[in-house]
Amino acid sequence: INSIGVLTSGGDAPGMNAAIRAVVRAGNHYGKRVFGIYEGYQGLIENQILELNARSVKGILNRGGTILKSSRSEEFKTKEGRKRAYENLQAHGIDALVLIGGNGTFTGGMYFSEEFDFPLMGLPGTIDNDLAGTDFTIGFDTACNVVIECVDRIRDTAESHNRLFLVEVMGRDSGFIGLRAGVASGAVDVIFPEEENPMIDLFAELERGASNNKTNRIILVSEGNKMGSIQEIAAAVKERYPQWESKITILGHLQRGGSPTCTDRVLASRLGVAAIESLLDGRRGEAIGIVNNQLAYMPFEEAIRSKAKLDMELNRILKILAS
Ligand code: F6P
Repeated sequence: INSIGVLTSGGDAPGMNAAIRAVVRAGNHYGKRVFGIYEGYQGLIENQILELNARSVKGILNRGGTILKSSRSEEFKTKEGRKRAYENLQAHGIDALVLIGGNGTFTGGMYFSEEFDFPLMGLPGTIDNDLAGTDFTIGFDTACNVVIECVDRIRDTAESHNRLFLVEVMGRDSGFIGLRAGVASGAVDVIFPEEENPMIDLFAELERGASNNKTNRIILVSEGNKMGSIQEIAAAVKERYPQWESKITILGHLQRGGSPTCTDRVLASRLGVAAIESLLDGRRGEAIGIVNNQLAYMPFEEAIRSKAKLDMELNRILKILAS
C-alpha cells in the first residue's frame, strides 16, 4: 500500500475531523500518501479527490463537522456508481481506503470490497452510538454533552414556572443518546425506542414525583420511540394531567455540531492511527472500535448485521435516582 484515501459519509459527527487528521498524519508518518475524498461516496464517484498532508489538517482537531464534507449517496448503491468510484481511485493510484461513518457507510464499503477486492477499513462515526463492535462511536459523547447542557438550561426556566418539559433528542431508532443524557441531566424519565410500554412508565414516574413534592418534570423523548411524535406524547400527557402546563423543545441538529469533547478527540485519534496501522498490517474489510479500552475489529458484514445493545442498566439507575 502506497496511497490511502479517506472519506466521511452519512450524517456528520463531532470528532470526524480529529479522525481525518489522525489518518493523514499517521499515513504520512509511515511514508504513505494520503488523499481526501470530498462529499463521501458521491464525491468519489464525481472524482472530488485531493492529496492532503500534515499541514492540510492543521487546526481541525477541535472543529465539529467534517472538512471533507459528507453525503448520503444513492448512486453508490448502484453497481455502475461503484465502478466509477473504483476507476477514480485507480486513476489517482489510491490503493486503500479509510471510511468514517455509520451503518450505511459500512454497507457501501462491504459491497465495494466484494466487487473490487480493495482494502478498506471503517471507523464508527455517528452521534447515535448504534454500531456494534465498539463501546462508543465518534461523536456520541459530544452529542450527549450538548443535550445535558441544553437540559440544564431548560431546567432553570422549567423550575421557575413549575412547567413540564418534553425534550426531543436524536438517535434515529435507538435510545443511546436519550438514556445516557437522561441519567446525566437528571431527567424524570426517558422515552426511548427499545422500550415496550413507555407511557405506563412515564405516568408512574410523574405520579411518584408528584407524591414526593417533586417539581422537576423534564422528560427526554428519543426521536425513534414507539409512542409517536413528541406532539402526540405531549397531548397524551396533557389529557391525563391538564393541571400541568407543558412545553416542547426539539434539540435537532444542535446535537450534531460543536467542538468535540476530550473523549471524542481521543477516540477519533486512536482509531485514525489504528486504521492506518491495520491497513499496513494487511487487515481489510473490518470496522475498528474500542471495547473495554482495547482496539477491536469486526468484519463489515457482522458490524452491519449486529445491533448495538443498549445498556438497560442505565434505565434502572435513572428510575432509582428520579425519586
Ligand atoms: O445518524 C445521525 C442522525 O443525526 C440521526 O440521529 C438522525 O435521525 C438523522 O441523522 C438526521 O438526519 P439528517 O441530518 O439527514 O436530517
